[in-house]
Amino acid sequence: MSKQRAKLVIGNWKMHGRLAENAALLQAVAQGAAGLPAEVGVGVCVPSPYLAQTQSLLEGGRVLWGVQDVSAFTHGAYTGEVAAPMVVDFGASLSIVGHSERRAYHRESAELVAVKTQRALEAGLTPVVCVGETLEEREAGSTEQVVGDQLDAVLVKLSEAEAARIVVAYEPVWAIGTGQSATSDQAQAVHAFLRSRLTAKGAAVADVPLLYGGSVKPDNAEELFRQPDIDGGLIGGASLKAQDFLAICKAAAATSVVS
Ligand code: 13P
Repeated sequence: MSKQRAKLVIGNWKMHGRLAENAALLQAVAQGAAGLPAEVGVGVCVPSPYLAQTQSLLEGGRVLWGVQDVSAFTHGAYTGEVAAPMVVDFGASLSIVGHSERRAYHRESAELVAVKTQRALEAGLTPVVCVGETLEEREAGSTEQVVGDQLDAVLVKLSEAEAARIVVAYEPVWAIGTGQSATSDQAQAVHAFLRSRLTAKGAAVADVPLLYGGSVKPDNAEELFRQPDIDGGLIGGASLKAQDFLAICKAAAATSVVS
């Protein structure tokens, strides 16, 4: 008997892209994704100024789009912020929240990430909540403590029904942009731990997609995605190359059915 497992692959472009190269990338991704099986979800999180362009090129296709952060406020005198309802105006359905780069460089606390998650949910976006430990924290043996606290800070603010609408991404800080991915065993161990925390929140939350991020490439994606608690990936550098991103989506397709 074979069991269907849905997979989800989301690109995080970070602060990359210009109009001309975006057009080529989005068109190639839309075209390549069209041939993927239905159980593979694909999305791209672009810099906010390119939302209109992204909408115009992806609308009507199967690739979802969104942003990499949202404000903790819905509107008001918050210079430079982008509110979740503004993003929804451009057909977006995703927002990353709590990426380690925002936690580190913008001093975002676990509580702020939780509020941003609430704002995203209220606006109808799917928040992709990122958690992950630094190398020092891993070496000190506190990985579960760190990612557990980061996840709990979000879960405590949500009802079971709200929590069932999030996506969680485990991104070990030491694996991001370094070319040194977590091994599939390391990632699976943390995912199993996160799954148990989600399950403790309620039965409806047990199956939220748990993505792995951190140096996912075409040559390691399949091995990672084969792990029982890894439901796909959040892809940085490799999402900027259509061929690599689509190869990772194909790895998701190859692992979406287990016998
Ligand atoms: P890389 O895939 O470039 O390591 O980035 C991962 C990431 O931070 C995605 O959010």
